[in-house]
Amino acid sequence: MINLVVVGGQWGDEGKGKIVDLLCPAFSHVARFNGGNNAGHTVRFADRHLALHLIPSGITHPHCRCLVGPGVVIDPVALVNEIRTLEGQSIDVRKRLLLSARAHLTLPGHRLLDGAREASKGRGRIGTTGRGIGPTYETRAARTGVRLGLVRNPRRFREAVAVTCAELDRLLGCAGSEARPAAEDIEASIAAALELAPMVGDTAVALAQAVSRGEPILFEGAQGTFLDIDHGTYPYVTSSNCLAGFAAPASGLPARVLGGVLAVFKAYTTRVGEGPFPTEMTDSLGDHIRRRGNEFGTTTGRPRRIGWFDAVAGRTAVRLNGIDAVALTKLDVLDEMAAIRIATAYRSGEQLLDRLPDDDAELARLDPVYEELPGWRTDTASVTSFDRLPQPAQSYVRRLEELLGVPVCLVSTGPRREETIFRELEPFTSWVPQLGERH
Ligand code: GDP
Ligand code: IMO
Ligand code: MG
Repeated sequence: MINLVVVGGQWGDEGKGKIVDLLCPAFSHVARFNGGNNAGHTVRFADRHLALHLIPSGITHPHCRCLVGPGVVIDPVALVNEIRTLEGQSIDVRKRLLLSARAHLTLPGHRLLDGAREASKGRGRIGTTGRGIGPTYETRAARTGVRLGLVRNPRRFREAVAVTCAELDRLLGCAGSEARPAAEDIEASIAAALELAPMVGDTAVALAQAVSRGEPILFEGAQGTFLDIDHGTYPYVTSSNCLAGFAAPASGLPARVLGGVLAVFKAYTTRVGEGPFPTEMTDSLGDHIRRRGNEFGTTTGRPRRIGWFDAVAGRTAVRLNGIDAVALTKLDVLDEMAAIRIATAYRSGEQLLDRLPDDDAELARLDPVYEELPGWRTDTASVTSFDRLPQPAQSYVRRLEELLGVPVCLVSTGPRREETIFRELEPFTSWVPQLGERH
């Protein structure tokens, strides 16, 4: 049994929620380590359809303790709403959720500042989720933010909120915005944060104790490799580190506790927001995939941009995260395609490149070099055994595996738990032996 990190291998929305939920029977703790309510992780089983933003995807498993670490930014109003929505579905949250006292809070001024910054950038906007995520990490780095732990002392908490709000008003002014948060919105944030107080604690200590007892932890990444603030397609990225290696320091644990990295990739690529996207399809095939894959944001409802699988980016993700194995999702979405493309290199003039350049403007100018594989034009939705997949679908998966250089241990053929193919491949079977046996 190991501590496993699940991360997105592309630009987010790869299906991390489904995969984390699926693996939960083998883990006693599920910990979010980055991002905030910009994330939208979907979990579907039986008649349930949950969209989780801040609460780890282990929450529907009564044996799982769910933790939100210090690297996560928390909008208290959004979190309280999420807790209540789950409680409305008879899911017990408050006893099993532990929130880091060190996590920073997103206040109404952070959200306004996010909007003001985007408006002032005009055509150069990032296309953020508008949830105030960037500005919250900004005040964290500037050491003018408010940490959740202060709710245990309401007087100090109110004082700290007032200081941060004053700083945010100043920043809004600098951004050329006349908008200021309404007093009642600030009060609503304070009230929501105070409601969270019984769930606040030291998540690093709780996780360290789990490690010393040998209880396995599943780290749930948010966003995806190329949205990482340092290693992604800067500046069109989010404001936290999304790579697997960050799961340990962002949770307050030593690096050696991380035992394996499972990356989730879609069988094609999507991206929400602006920024370079080498394999983007702007034609009717892209529209077809968007419709079939229901590619509209879980958080904002925005249509996702669609592209072919990018194996250059994929190999880069393998290197950056140290990916040991892949979960490939949404294979069924490609069922009706006559032919399927994979980008195997980028061309820049006469030169062939096999990795992403560090300059987003250069990336935007590159032409992908494609390999074309036959489609299968057969229904694969809900297929649960690899042998039952049509031959061209098996070949597609094997080719991706070859190009990425790591095994595809899970193939997902629908949004529900049971719509999954477990392949008897290492390292997956040794990570979660009991899951392998069950299927
Ligand atoms: P996350 O942010 O990585 O957790 O991904 P999202 O939940 O934002 O987006 C993935 C979407 O694809 C969700 O609506 C899932 O229910 C859905 N999904 C996941 N796996 C599959 C699959 O194999 N096939 C299909 N058709 N849908 C899937
Ligand atoms: P999950 O966890 C897809 C994108 C936004 C925008 C950029 C910056 O569901 O995969 P931000 O609000 O973070 O400042 O926006 O990052 N983005 C995501 N795209 N999935 C996500 O999360 C995302 N979280 C942020 O669309 O391009
Ligand atoms: Mg999502």
